[in-house]
Amino acid sequence: MSFITIEGGEGTGKSTLIRGLTKALSAQGRDVVQTREPGGSPGAEDIRTLLVTGETDRWDAMTELLLVNAARRDHVERVIRPALDRGATVLCDRYLDSTRCYQGMRGVSRAMIDGLHESAIDLDPTITLILDAPPEQGLERAADRGGDARFEAMGLAYHTQLRDGFLSIAKADPNRCTVIDATQSKDVVLAAALAALNIA
Ligand code: TMP
Repeated sequence: MSFITIEGGEGTGKSTLIRGLTKALSAQGRDVVQTREPGGSPGAEDIRTLLVTGETDRWDAMTELLLVNAARRDHVERVIRPALDRGATVLCDRYLDSTRCYQGMRGVSRAMIDGLHESAIDLDPTITLILDAPPEQGLERAADRGGDARFEAMGLAYHTQLRDGFLSIAKADPNRCTVIDATQSKDVVLAAALAALNIA
């Protein structure tokens, strides 16, 4: 129960859930590190800006994969690994499964994504919570929220494929992944997440 990732499409409520989990776990006296990808360290946040702003065709899928991994390497080496080494629980908003879906659905092979991860990063989450909602709903929520929208602008067909991608990752790895219906109220989603983490 130490390296927990929260995954899912746009506007599925990941940030709200992470805040709730951080509060609940901290209240139990745990050392909790709440972080996000792309980003989570100063260098990785700079790379995040390159990824999430600008035109949808600003980067091709392979360049995107390399940028994501450069950001992840910095984040893992400077923030995540040191936190895990001192015994903290790390809650990370997006990680490798987002790469498998977002860059995978743009055409990079799973073998390339997983191979690069193994060589350059080599750190896998213990538990992954996948927030699932219809992409139409999530994209609407994300648009209302505003902000950097390079990936949101990639169209409904792409976001529908992402949803299917997350669900098939969960199906293939049921010991690590739990899918949570993100159309439920935030309290119900938090309760489901705590149950999946085996914490009342
Ligand atoms: P966020 O808005 O949910 O914080 O995520 C920023 C965007 O980055 C989101 O649209 C998904 C995208 N992304 C990737 O394309 N690949 C990745 O590996 C990660 C972690 C995020």
